[in-house]
Amino acid sequence: MRIAIIGSGGREHAICQKIYESKKVKKIFCIPGNGGTNSIAKNIQIDLNNFEEIKDFLITERVDLTIIGPEEPLVKGIVDYLNQNKLYVFGPDKFCSNLEGSKIFTKKICEKHNIPTANFKIFKNEAQSLEYLQNKSYPLVVKADGLAAGKGVYICENYLDAKKGVKEIFGGKFGNAKEILIEDFLYGEEMSFFILYDNVSFKIFNTAQDHKRVFEGDKGKNTGGMGAYSPSRLNTKFLENKIVKKIIKPTLDYLKNENGKYIGFLYAGLMIKDDEPYLIEYNVRMGDPECQTILPLLKNDFVEVLKNCMNGTLNKLELEWEDKKSICIVLASKGYPQNFNKNIFIENLENFKHSNNRFIFHAGTKLVDKKFYSTGGRVLNFVSIGSNLKSARDETLNLIKKLNWRYGHYRRDIAFKVIKN
Ligand code: AMP
Ligand code: GLY
Repeated sequence: MRIAIIGSGGREHAICQKIYESKKVKKIFCIPGNGGTNSIAKNIQIDLNNFEEIKDFLITERVDLTIIGPEEPLVKGIVDYLNQNKLYVFGPDKFCSNLEGSKIFTKKICEKHNIPTANFKIFKNEAQSLEYLQNKSYPLVVKADGLAAGKGVYICENYLDAKKGVKEIFGGKFGNAKEILIEDFLYGEEMSFFILYDNVSFKIFNTAQDHKRVFEGDKGKNTGGMGAYSPSRLNTKFLENKIVKKIIKPTLDYLKNENGKYIGFLYAGLMIKDDEPYLIEYNVRMGDPECQTILPLLKNDFVEVLKNCMNGTLNKLELEWEDKKSICIVLASKGYPQNFNKNIFIENLENFKHSNNRFIFHAGTKLVDKKFYSTGGRVLNFVSIGSNLKSARDETLNLIKKLNWRYGHYRRDIAFKVIKN
C-alpha cells in the first residue's frame, strides 16, 4: 500500500514508524513531516490548509490511504473534501469533528444523553458571564468554545482570574467568540482513554496518563504535554465498562443517528473520581504524547488494523498489546511553553537509533544537510518500554542525558504517581 500521513509532530512520527514496520506498506509520505519522518518516509511540503494541493498530490501519487494526525484539518473538513474526491481517509468527518471543534457541541450531547461531565452554563456575552461569575464559588473553569491549541481553558481560583478569561475570550484572543462555557471544577485524577472506531463497531485502544504542566510535581503552565506513560494506573475492567456504557456508547449512538461518519481514533479526556468517570473533553484524534507511548505497545500489524477500519471489519480483529509498560519523556526547547529560540543545532542526534523497545520520535525538528535543527517547542520524544515503569524511566532519562542538548528542558518525574522513589 501507498500511505500518506498528515501532520508534523511526535504523534505523526510514531504513526509513521508503526506503518514503516508493516509488511503491507510500499511507500510512505508525510505531509509535511519532520526531521525524524524524513528517514523512513518522503516528506512533502504542502500547507495543511491547502486541501486542493493535498488532494492533487494524493491522486498523482496514487495514495491508497491517508491518515490525518492533527485536529485542525479534521475540524475544517479535510475528510469530507478528500472523500468527495474518492480518496480513502482515516479520520472523522467534519460533523463528528465538532466533538473537538466545539466544546459546546459536546456539552449539549452530554446534557441530552446524561453523559457524566462537569455542570456547565453557556453565555453569549461578557456582561452576562461576569454577572454569573460574581456569585459563584471557586475554583471554576472558563473555556473558549472552539479550537485554541490547548490555550482556551482558564482554571480560575477567583473572580479576577475568571474575569480575565472572559475578557480575553470575548476580546477575540481565540478568534471571534459568540459563546463561552463556564463549568464547575472537577476534582480527581486525569486519564486519557482511546478507542478505534470504523463507524460500525469500536475497540478500546489502550489508555495513558499525560503530564500537561511544564514543571516537575505538576507545577507551572499548561503545555501540549511533557510526557506520558501507558497504560494508565487508573484503568480497570470495572472502570472501562463504565466509561464505555456511560460515555462512549451514547456519544457514538448520537453521531450515528445524525448520520455522522467516523473512521478513526476517538480520545476521551476523563477525570476519574472515586472510580467514577467524568468527561472533560473529546479529541477526534490520537493524543500527543499519548500516541508515542501507546503505539509501541501494539503487537498487531498497524496497516492491517487500519485496513480493517476502512472496510468496516474492525470486529473481525483482535487487538494485541505487549504486557509491558511504556513511558515517553518530551525534550522541549528551553523557555517552552513561553518564548523559546528555534533553529538550534542538535548535535549527535543522528547517532540515536530505534531498537525494539527504545524509540526517539521527533516533533519540532528539521534535517538540513544531514544535520538536525529544532523548529518548535516540543522537540523530541524519548520512549522506552519495559517490564516496569521505573526501569523504563531510568533508561529514558539516560538516553536524554546522553544526548545532552543544552538548549532543552524536560521533566524527570513522568509517571511520578506510579513510581515511588
Ligand atoms: P481541555 O482542553 O478541555 O482538555 O482542558 C485542558 C486541561 O484543563 C485538562 O486536561 C484539565 O487538566 C483541565 N480542565 C479542563 N476542564 C476542567 C474541569 N472542569 N475541572 C478540572 N480541570 C479541568
Ligand atoms: N496530550 C493532549 C493532547 O493531545 O491534546
